[in-house]
Formats: sequence, C-alpha cells, structure tokens
Amino acid sequence: MIDTLLEWISLLVRWTHVIAGIAWIGSSFYFIALDAGLQPNPRLDHRVKGEAWQVHGGGFYQIQKFTVAPEFMPEHLTWFKWEAYGTWFFGFALLVLVYYLNPTVYLIDTSVMNIDPADAVPAAAASLVIGWFVYDLLCRSWFGRETARLAISGFVLLCAAAYAYTHVFSGRGAFIQVGALVGTIMAANVLVIIIPGQRKTVAALLKGQEPNPVWGQIAKQRSIHNNYLTLPVVFTMLSNHYAFTYASPRYNWLILACIFIASFLVRHWFNTLHAAGHTGAKPEWRLWPAAAVPVLCAIGLGILGQPAASVADAGAPPVTFADVRQIVDQRCHVCHAAKPKFPGFAEAPKGVMFDTPAQIKRQSPQIMAQAVKTHTMPLGNITEITDAERSTLGTWIVSGSKLN
Ligand code: HEC
Repeated sequence: MIDTLLEWISLLVRWTHVIAGIAWIGSSFYFIALDAGLQPNPRLDHRVKGEAWQVHGGGFYQIQKFTVAPEFMPEHLTWFKWEAYGTWFFGFALLVLVYYLNPTVYLIDTSVMNIDPADAVPAAAASLVIGWFVYDLLCRSWFGRETARLAISGFVLLCAAAYAYTHVFSGRGAFIQVGALVGTIMAANVLVIIIPGQRKTVAALLKGQEPNPVWGQIAKQRSIHNNYLTLPVVFTMLSNHYAFTYASPRYNWLILACIFIASFLVRHWFNTLHAAGHTGAKPEWRLWPAAAVPVLCAIGLGILGQPAASVADAGAPPVTFADVRQIVDQRCHVCHAAKPKFPGFAEAPKGVMFDTPAQIKRQSPQIMAQAVKTHTMPLGNITEITDAERSTLGTWIVSGSKLN
C-alpha cells in the first residue's frame, strides 16, 4: 500500500518536474533567440538596444530590449524565475525519491566502490552544493574574465565531476548526479546571480538612480552558461533509461564528455542560426559534422566498453533450464515477480516478471541484453550474481532457451 502510494508520488513529482522544465527551458530558448535576433533601430529611444518583430497566435508582437534599463519602471513587470525554481525543486524531490531513498538499488554499485549507504547519500547531496561553489568561484576568478578560458576550464571541471562520480557511484547513479549537479548550477545561477542582479536594477530605477550595467552583464554571462548547459542536462536525465550509455565502467564518463562536446556544438549552431537572421551571416553548418564526431566516439566507446558476452564455447556441456531457473530465482526474482519481495518495489519493475518458466523464456532476449551482454541487471549487482552464472544464462539463451 505504502509502496504503491510512493510510486504514485514519484510519478506526480516527475510529471511536475518535466512540465516546469519545459516552461523553463522553453522560455530560456525563446529569450536567447530573441536576444540574438534584436535589430537596432535609430528611431527608437537611445536606451533601446534593439527590437524584434514576431508573429504568433494570430497577432504581431513588437518587442524592444532596454539596456541597461528604461527610464521609468513599468507598472507591470513579468519575472521569469518560478520555472527554474520549480524544475529544481521537483527534480531534487525526484532524486530523493528514486535514488536517495533506495541507495543500494540505484545509487551504489559495490563493484565500483563498496560505499556505505549512510555515507553515499550525504556525499551525493553535498557534492551538489560544493559543485556550485566551485563553479561560482571559477566564474568570479581570473578564469571568468575571458569567455574561451572559462568555457574550457568549466568543461574540464565537468569531466572531472563525471570521472569522480562514475568512480564512486553506480553508472546510473553517477549520470543522474552529473545531471543534478548541472541542474543545480543552472537553478542557482537564476536564484543567486540573475534575479538579485535584476532586483538591484529595479531598485535603482525606483530610486531614480542610474543602474550599474555590470549587474546586467554578469546576469547575461550566467544566462549564456545556462543556455549551453541545457542540452547536456537533458541528456543525463534521459540516458538513465539507456543502459548502454552508463553501463560501461571504464568509459561511461568519457561517453558523457563526448555528448557534452556534441551538445555544446549543436547549441552553438542554434545560436549562430538565430543571429544569422539580422547580421546576414550564415549559420555555421560545419558545426553539424563537427558534432557528429563526438557522438560517433560515444557510440564506439559504448560498444568497446561492453563486458564481453560471456557465453560458453560450442563443445561445453548444455545448460538445463533447472540451472537457469535457480539463478533467476536467486538473483532476479526478489524484484521481478508479480509481488516483489524487495523492499520499496510495489510491482515488477518495467512489468518484467520471472514467476513462470514461460515468462523467463519469453524474456530471454532482454535477459541477454541486461544481465549477459551488459551488467545492468541485477541493479548494482545487489543480489551478487557471478560471472559464471551470467555465462550460464548466456549459454542457455544462445542454444535456444529450451525449457527442458
Ligand atoms: C533490486 C531489484 C532488481 C533485481 C535483483 C533485478 N532487477 Fe531487473 N530491473 C529492476 C528495475 C528497477 C528495472 C527498471 C529499470 C529502469 O527503470 O530503467 C529492471 C529492469 C529489468 C529489465 C527491463 C529492462 C528494459 O529496459 O526493458 C530486464 C529485462 C531485467 N530487469 C532483467 C533482470 C534480470 C535478468 C535480473 C537477474 C539477473 C534482474 N533484472 C535483477 C530491478 C531489479
């Protein structure tokens, strides 16, 4: 009963997280495109940096951007912040529900590091806060004064975080931690830098003073970071459902690094496209083949990093179903049953059940994919399956999954 309720809460929280995320990223993409497409118009107020005309929803919009600020405060001002805070809040709640409340299942893999759950969860949570301070210091330091230098050092730090996480947590747990770290940095940029800067500008205007342009410049820098971090963060969230991205213990962090590079290039292409409209410059089409290279590298690393499919040679003694049944009962059935006995599981994960011989036979291709070719299952090898047992499963499947 409690487990079913928790599953529902998890679904509702995930739903809200995704909806808030769409609103946040949607408005962020929109403003980046708008900014890049602003055109100067000498006939407008000298405070107007540029304007844009857009058509949408049955009408025309004329948008003007004031930098640093208009002369007077408008009566109504729309702020964009709850999208970011909501995404982070519900995302963190989901992280707690799925990972931090079930650390032995999702966060820890004893073959990576034999870490106590009581240490793993606080360490994982603390790393998000520490990561933000490191990033913030980097932006404020000497590195932050020049864009290229900051971008490269930020990327190196991101790779270091991915390396560290994949050497402490399970592949899956590590990927979600990288995503959570980047998401935390993005939301904190809004909370700690962008919104306070805008508040100062508004306060100065209300007092009739000239706002300091630096506040706007810093906010703009952080908002550009958020823009480039969007695609990688979405990837880390989705890749959790694709074991081939995170399952390779040797290369998973490198796969992530490749995807980061590809997504920066793709995002950059969009930015050049938005700007192309009014500068007359051409969008950088070469960025697409450039982005394909790291994606191909990621695919290659995924294949290279697969544990060798451990299947016995042709002459080996045949495997009986009784052997297979025993392994499945011992290593898989606690979770994969109509009524799982494993704490926290209300129903069979992904509907995969191994209660009857027919079910085991029917799902043998998936068993091959999850427990033989990759070592995704059992999750975090919590039931301590051996390589010999994986090999037994593989041999049974390649010789036709016979039930006798
Ligand atoms: C601790 C519980 C647990 C154990 C033990 C376990 N699994 Fe799983 N299994 C899961 C969960 C949770 C998922 C869903 C993963 C997800 O959401 O991506 C899953 C998913 C699967 C899937 C479906 C994967 C997909 O993406 O379609 C297969 C097949 C599978 N497990 C096979 C096995 C086999 C074979 C074993 C034993 C060798 C095993 N599992 C042991 C929890 C477990």
